[in-house]
Parts: sequence; structure tokens; C-alpha cells
Amino acid sequence: MGVVVFGSINVDLLFPVRSLPQPGQTVLGEHYRVAPGGKGMNQALAARWAGAEVRMIGAVGDDRFADLARDRLVRVGVPTQDLITVDAPTACAAIAVAEDGENSIVVASGANRLLKAAAVPPSAVTPDGVTLLQLEVPMAESLAIAQRTRAAGGRVVWSLAPFAVVPHDVLAAADVLVLNAPEVAALASHFGLSAARAASEAAERWNLAVVSTLGATGAVLATPDGQWHCPAAIVDVVDTTGAGDAFAGAFGAALAARKPLIEALRDGCAGGALACRALGAQESHGTEAEISALAATLTVEALG
Ligand code: RIB
Repeated sequence: MGVVVFGSINVDLLFPVRSLPQPGQTVLGEHYRVAPGGKGMNQALAARWAGAEVRMIGAVGDDRFADLARDRLVRVGVPTQDLITVDAPTACAAIAVAEDGENSIVVASGANRLLKAAAVPPSAVTPDGVTLLQLEVPMAESLAIAQRTRAAGGRVVWSLAPFAVVPHDVLAAADVLVLNAPEVAALASHFGLSAARAASEAAERWNLAVVSTLGATGAVLATPDGQWHCPAAIVDVVDTTGAGDAFAGAFGAALAARKPLIEALRDGCAGGALACRALGAQESHGTEAEISALAATLTVEALG
């Protein structure tokens, strides 16, 4: 089996604006777009586009937003038989996207809050599988899937986004954490890690790999054995929404293909960058060939 994503399915309402609204401020834009999103589903599509076989386990309501999400999954080749329909509306995200590509997101979690670990069929958890998790569905249910994956011999890649304080058990059940810079800082502050060495201290303390995604600076992989930097791939950035999810999807697909961590880091950087080329989280993901071509241009260097 390839990649299993246990996570959120949202429909995104995207509002391009000149600059993001400040608290108490109203800003006017010209138009909006409705498109499938959610950190879980974004990861699933990114992994599929990167060439992995993918199963998506998520919860939706009995509504038109659910149809939108299902249609997108089917078109990309991710089966929908593992989606459960619950008594709550499909989750919805309001996303303001500024001219410089930055965003600001509010999510109404709806059906995501009712996703249960029991929705994951035994056949989805295999010794050679990679499970991708985030923090937009209940943490306890994600933790149960992480522990099942590990018990079966599979690997767990956990994006701590949107950041929440996680118990020690979560860190003990992950093989790889994926965090952006503010999330690394929040993790450091909660667990008393040094701000400058937070990722490598976390890697040593919990015996795992930590990937810090740093936008235009690329990404750093920290393991108990060392640290490696991958530069950012250069693309024309239109919208960074979902770039971290695309990183995780391409990274997970690479691990499922048995690539070593450093190659997965390169693929993740390429996948994350390619996803920034159009408005929306799922509108410009790189194909397997595009990711390979761009990844081949990135030189990973060991940090002293
Ligand atoms: O990471 C981007 C995603 O965050 C969006 O698709 C939105 O749905 C929110 O979950």
C-alpha cells in the first residue's frame, strides 16, 4: 500500500485581496472562488499527483460541498469509499489571499470534528504504508491511527498544523514531524526546547525526523544523526495556500516509494513550490514528472 491520509476535507472560499485584513478591518476584493481544500485532502491529492496510490479517510456532510470534494478526489484517482457521511455540514474555510501570496485562514470544522479512527479499515494499515496526519481532525483519533500504523510496521508523517499543543504520545507515535517556522517556535516554547536548536533537540528527544518548512528559505531536515538544508525551488508564487500540505504529500509519496529521507526532502520542496503557482490549495500541484525534474535541480547540503 502507498499513502493513507487520515484528515480534514474542507471546501475553501478563496478571496484574493491586496493585503490581509487587520483585526477590526474590512477589505474589499473583486471576486472569490469556491474550491475543495482541507489540509488532509490537499495532502492526499498532492501524494496522488506525486505518483502514490492513496486512500483518503475523512468525514463530510450530506451536502453539495461534499459532492465537490468527492468529484475532485475521483477525478484525481483517489477512491472515495473510505469517506464517511456524518450529521454535520462539510467543513468550510474562508481564506484571504494577499497579492504577495500570503494568506489568512478561518476554518469551520463541521464534519471534520466527527471523524473517528474506526473509519479506517484494517486493509488500509499495512507494514509498508505511510500514514499522513495533520491537526484539523480530532487529535485522539489521529493518535489511534498513528499507533495502529506503527504497530503494523508502517510510518507516520504528522504535520502539526494548525498548531496545537500536542501530548508526548503524539511525538512518540510519529516518525516524521512537518512544521513551519511558527509551529517549530510554538513546539519549542511548549516543551522548553532551545529556540535556535528546537528541531534537532526534538529529533533527539523523541528519536524522530523533524522537517521545518521555511518558505523562501527552503526546508531543513533534522534527525538524531544530523541536519540537512534543501533550498526553495524557484517558481512564480501566486498563492501559498496549501504549500505545506503539498510538501507533506510529495514527501509522503517519496517515502512510500522507498526513497531515503533526503530525497523525500527534495521532492517535498519541489512539490510545495509547484503548488504555489495558482490561486487555491489544489489548483497547481506538480505531477510526478514535474516534481522529479524540479527536485533534481535542488542541492541538499549537510549543516555543521
Ligand atoms: O493548508 C491549507 C488549507 O488550510 C486550506 O485548504 C484550508 O482548507 C485549511 O484547511
